Amino acid sequence: MLNFQYYTPTKVVFGKDTDLEVGELVKQQGCRKVLIHYGGQSAKRSGLLNRVTGALDEAEIAYVELGGVVPNPRLSKVYEGIRLCRSEGVDFILAVGGGSVIDSAKAIGYGAAEEGDVWELYDYKREAKACLPIGAILTIAAAGSEMSNSSVITNEDGWYKRGYGSDLSRPCFAIMNPELTYTLPDYQTQSGCTDIMMHTIERYFNMSGSMDITDGISETLLKTVMKYARILREEPENYRARAEVMWAGSLSHNGLTECGNDGGDWASHRLEHELGGLFDVAHGAGLAAVWGSWARYVCDAAPERFATFARNVMGVSADLDAKEAALAGIVAMEDFLRSIGMPVSLYELGIEPTEEQILDMADKCCLGDEITVGCVKKLKVADVAGIYRMAR
Ligand code: NZQ
Ligand code: ZN
Repeated sequence: MLNFQYYTPTKVVFGKDTDLEVGELVKQQGCRKVLIHYGGQSAKRSGLLNRVTGALDEAEIAYVELGGVVPNPRLSKVYEGIRLCRSEGVDFILAVGGGSVIDSAKAIGYGAAEEGDVWELYDYKREAKACLPIGAILTIAAAGSEMSNSSVITNEDGWYKRGYGSDLSRPCFAIMNPELTYTLPDYQTQSGCTDIMMHTIERYFNMSGSMDITDGISETLLKTVMKYARILREEPENYRARAEVMWAGSLSHNGLTECGNDGGDWASHRLEHELGGLFDVAHGAGLAAVWGSWARYVCDAAPERFATFARNVMGVSADLDAKEAALAGIVAMEDFLRSIGMPVSLYELGIEPTEEQILDMADKCCLGDEITVGCVKKLKVADVAGIYRMAR
């Protein structure tokens, strides 16, 4: 096992009606003016936004609002938010929504706290030295941004979707009321469940070895999400299921499942980010579409690990040898993804990239072979292109 640091400064306020506590939680931050940041229509339609502004009014906290964040959040909206924060003297950002809104809030937080173009962070040009404090009211269990240090932004100029991570952006608090997720369409729920599983799977497939406790937490987390994802197909208002999935989403991506290991592979995420940038697909669905091809491409480099995953998570028979078990585990994972309505190929995802687009995505993914992607196998442009082709 490796040495590790585990840092989770986010205060979690979890359960029914917890969104009503937002006024008090923001007040505790001692801020002057809040930016309420949200997405398209869902938070308005559900009445959540009204409850939030009502709570801030009651707590006598000044605020401005900026909505319109889209899935795969855009840099232009981030710039708009930075300008607004500066002109209004905003010193706290309250994100009301999912990963896209929280990520947009983090990027605005970086941009408003320092001089310089915020895209330089996402373009690997410099490190952030400051970020405005952020709070979140989560409305979809998926990205884990409510406790993570990362944010992912799409630059429309070239359609680059890039992530940046710094502990400065970890939210100070995250309000998680599972009931707020009842209104999610099934596809978004299942896309979220897939993303949650992938955050743990990416870390599970590491090359450093791990700790029994970390592996055990990871395996339980994965089986829990599988169990409740199936239930949510039939019962979208099952509180227990929503709550289990929501908490799994945060634990999947707050660092818990990488304690003692090297942080994991992350190639599937890198491949998906290029798909999201170019084709604007739902993140979890994009992951589902490429994961099986990635797994088949790399599994001969770590057959024992794939076999352990197959046996402990997917319930594959202990009688199979490692190689057979590894492949059976990949098939079982794809069967599960299909069973929750997720695509397991690019075609099923609804896109048919041309050869030129595949080469473009592979090139962006590896910065033209300046870097390799993943750790189970260190993938270069040609490997990434090969995986996209397999996933067609
Ligand atoms: O915009 P609205 O109208 O709110 O609709 C949203 C959006 O269309 C809808 N939605 C959210 N809550 C709802 C709801 N609809 C009905 N009822 C509700 N309660 O769901 C759609 C998707 O929302 P989004 O925020 O995009 O989903 P998600 O949380 O999956 O976030 C995806 C983004 O996060 C990034 C992804 O790449 C993607 O850009 N990620 C961020 C990470 C991080 N910061 O740590 C890690 C992840 O790996 C991921 O890359
Ligand atoms: Zn993800």
